[in-house]
Amino acid sequence: MAADQKQTVQEIVKNHGKNRNRLMDIVREVQSRFGHISNESAHLIADTLGIPFVEVIDMVSFYSFLARTSKGKAVVRLSKCIVDKMHGMDKVADAFEKETGVKFGQTSSDGMIRLEYTPCIGMCDQVPAVLVDGSVITNVTPKDVPEIVKKLRKGAKIGSQESDATRPDAQVELNLRKPGPVIFSPMDRGAAIRAALNMTPEEVITTVTNSRLRGRGGAGFPTGMKWNFCRKAKGEAHYVICNADEGEPGTFKDRVILTEVPDIVFEGMTVAGYALGAKQGLFYLRGEYQYLHSYLQQVLARRRHLGLLGRNIGGKEGFDFDIRIQMGAGAYVCGEESSLIESLEGKRGAPRDRPPFPVTKGYMNQPSSVNNVETYCCAARIMEKGAEWFSKIGTKDSTGTKLFSVSGDCTKPGVYEIEFGITVDDLLEVVGGEDAQAVQVGGPSGNCIAPKDFGRKLCFEDLSTGGSVIVFGPKRNMLEVVREFTEFFIEESCGWCAPCRVGTTVMLEMLDKIIEGKGSSKDLEELERVCNTVKMMSRCGLGQTAPNPILTTMKNFPKLYSSLIKTEEYVPTFDWGNALSDGIAIAGREPVWEGEEL
Ligand SMILES: Cc1cc2nc3c(=O)[nH]c(=O)nc-3n(C[C@H](O)[C@H](O)[C@H](O)COP(=O)(O)O)c2cc1C
Ligand code: SF4
Repeated sequence: MAADQKQTVQEIVKNHGKNRNRLMDIVREVQSRFGHISNESAHLIADTLGIPFVEVIDMVSFYSFLARTSKGKAVVRLSKCIVDKMHGMDKVADAFEKETGVKFGQTSSDGMIRLEYTPCIGMCDQVPAVLVDGSVITNVTPKDVPEIVKKLRKGAKIGSQESDATRPDAQVELNLRKPGPVIFSPMDRGAAIRAALNMTPEEVITTVTNSRLRGRGGAGFPTGMKWNFCRKAKGEAHYVICNADEGEPGTFKDRVILTEVPDIVFEGMTVAGYALGAKQGLFYLRGEYQYLHSYLQQVLARRRHLGLLGRNIGGKEGFDFDIRIQMGAGAYVCGEESSLIESLEGKRGAPRDRPPFPVTKGYMNQPSSVNNVETYCCAARIMEKGAEWFSKIGTKDSTGTKLFSVSGDCTKPGVYEIEFGITVDDLLEVVGGEDAQAVQVGGPSGNCIAPKDFGRKLCFEDLSTGGSVIVFGPKRNMLEVVREFTEFFIEESCGWCAPCRVGTTVMLEMLDKIIEGKGSSKDLEELERVCNTVKMMSRCGLGQTAPNPILTTMKNFPKLYSSLIKTEEYVPTFDWGNALSDGIAIAGREPVWEGEEL
């Protein structure tokens, strides 16, 4: 390694305080300087931090946006989710391959452009979309591709770059279709903090509890209860963590919040800091939203300037709190709160065993409250306007409004802030998706429902959703949808536990057999059995929900599957005999069966 490169890597590590927990920032910066993290760089980082080389490699190899070898001057990442496909992604992919002369997964011969697919990048309302080294281009058509490729061949940058901290909707359309009374109504900067500081921390938590706010990240856990557990947990420090990973395909509501009202999120985090007795807030932003990074840093800087972050906030002696943004690097599982904490600590994002839960042992093993972007916004508004005001909106068990990210076959895709309790039918009318044959509520990990259920309500007590609503028109092949979602889970499984790592692939093989018309009724039973096993035996929420696309369509669209059954002869997909012979050959010994003498 050249001496100047060596010096640069060492300086990067030094600038991050030689702090092992900042490994993610260190490797991201090394990659942005040199295009990848070579073994030499990894050795140098490890030596300077005083950690084993494998720890660096273990981490780097986990994230899809980090590379150990050079990929090319520019990496074009084409968003590949079902909504992209529904809106012409394949034609855009063909155009890129034609124009660059290489296939996806390859780098052009001049080393200038690499083509890759990446899972949903949070732009489903303006697809097809590509990420090019942190910038986003949306509504891409095959006609746009020659110009993009021409620019990249010349080494030019695409879109506005990281250093350009103007409003990010210059790059990505806002698409806020319907603002509501909670998230998107005007609020004075500092109003929620001022209201909170007039109370004790315990009273703040009681107010949030009385509002009956439930977490907007998907599971709907009561926020007041979470904050109470966290405040009461003993530790050297408490942490406020915001989950802005937003990786569920079809979800893009946090993107719109962060563009339009980022102050409210940071205000909510600061209120949480006061309530929990925390001095540090950590904001985990998905790697795909790098284009928002400088803008958000600017918002934080302004808040520090206004005395809304930093020391003695709001003039309250001893109330010190600040927020650090941590960028992710392309891993859906990092949205799961314990993986997110691992990632925040600069490790691979593998989920932790729970208990202990983050409220007692989270970031750095200290009490931490992980909440969604929208949850913090709600908490800020509750402080400002009161628990009673909030609890009168929505339904009994789902108070407040919900942001829905609506995409797919509808005339008005975008973000809608609507009171909890709206029926799917009513939402479809608002978004222009009345002829839907199916609606995916809550993304692939949620529920695919048929028209017979369109009278049901969107709320925790009926159909719950973290926000993703994908509409499928009458002409869509729903099995293609199910296949795509299952592939997504295979791709995103962290590989830690066999039920998820192996089970998801087995599910796809069994599904394919049925789609190819080679399945019998017994195959359907077996598919359901495997799905239920994966659901029950997986270690974290990813594996536990990965079978949902198959299970919910089997339940709600039984004909989709039964119409493909042409035979009653059951031929197992997995040949135990062959697998066993292979195993015997590898192990070099025969198995001993139960009851057999050794
Ligand atoms: C695979 C997986 C991905 C997740 N992704 C997100 C996410 O992107 N954003 C989020 O807020 N919660 C996500 N969650 C839920 C979090 O684990 C956690 O419950 C949530 O951040 C808590 O916030 P809340 O109480 O405000 O809902 C995910 C869970 C799983 C299992
Ligand atoms: S369920 Fe999947 S993502 Fe979760 S720990 Fe197991 S392998 Fe990893």
